[in-house]
Amino acid sequence: MQFKIAFIGFGTVGQGLTEILLEKKDMLGEKYDFHFKIVAISDIMKGAVYDEAGLDMEKMLELVKKGKKLDEYPTGVKGMDSMATIQETNADTIIEVTYTDVKTGEPALTHIKAALNAGKNVVSTNKGPVVKQVMELLDLAASNNVHYGFEGVVLAGTPVLNLAKFTLAGNKITGFKGILNGTTNYILTRMEGGMSYDDALKKAQELGYAEADPTGDVEGLDALGKVVILSNVVLGKNLSVNDVQRKGITGITGEDVKKAKAEGKRWKLIGSAEIQSDGSVKAKVSPEKLPLSDPLAGVCEAINALTYYTDELGPVTIVGPGAGRRETGFSLLIDLLEINRKLS
Ligand code: HSE
Repeated sequence: MQFKIAFIGFGTVGQGLTEILLEKKDMLGEKYDFHFKIVAISDIMKGAVYDEAGLDMEKMLELVKKGKKLDEYPTGVKGMDSMATIQETNADTIIEVTYTDVKTGEPALTHIKAALNAGKNVVSTNKGPVVKQVMELLDLAASNNVHYGFEGVVLAGTPVLNLAKFTLAGNKITGFKGILNGTTNYILTRMEGGMSYDDALKKAQELGYAEADPTGDVEGLDALGKVVILSNVVLGKNLSVNDVQRKGITGITGEDVKKAKAEGKRWKLIGSAEIQSDGSVKAKVSPEKLPLSDPLAGVCEAINALTYYTDELGPVTIVGPGAGRRETGFSLLIDLLEINRKLS
């Protein structure tokens, strides 16, 4: 199938996906009959360009890497805002990769609703809309006969949502426990190596793991969003952010980390949820001092991990990257290929 793609937002994740698409173009065509043209980009900082015949994305990446505006692209219509790009271009698939706000879901929520209402597929790594209104958005996609994919909202391209939906199908999943935030895991790992909290956070920002506002990472809000998403999408519950207890890692000192090491333990920021006997769900995010024998204790750097508790297999754990340019960009390809499979 031939996709006509528009990017809403063109930061590191969008650029990461573009690099993968360009490098793997031939393989994607030959192996999966997946073909694409990128027809539009609209980014609040970088500007906008639209060409219904398709943009030269090598040229576009060059512009962006030099810090130039998209308006310097030699041809095409310039200056369309996000809503015009969604509603007025010939794109059939919108990639929503703007700023994440798990409290309001905006501006992504408005973008996604507009795209689905316009009969366009949406793939997105934006956690906000999934935290706020995932079921409404999935219903809206179904009623417009299009698809809404968001594999990358938890553990980036490490496919935790597809794992639960497809390959673990037939199991009852009764809970989960995981390291759901790369920034905090990176900081805790570096602190164990003797780096200060401030330096480790700065390094995590430089490496592109942290959110635009890293308070969301270190105070546990990012992990909390992921706990809400997993509870609602995988466990079938209806939690909101206020239903999850939250504590971040800002209270953990270098001294605490050293002490844990001497005890043969390691601090990790853990997000978990467990269905209770009355059907309710108990969910929380908090630092836990794990013994080194716990499989999650061995997961270091910006790597994430998630254990699902299933009735047929017991605990099933997946470990992989949970942040990063290409790693998150790849999650969008997972969604695009799923749509391609459904429509082929
Ligand atoms: N800031 C997030 C993290 C990015 O550190 O895990 C992925 O959601």
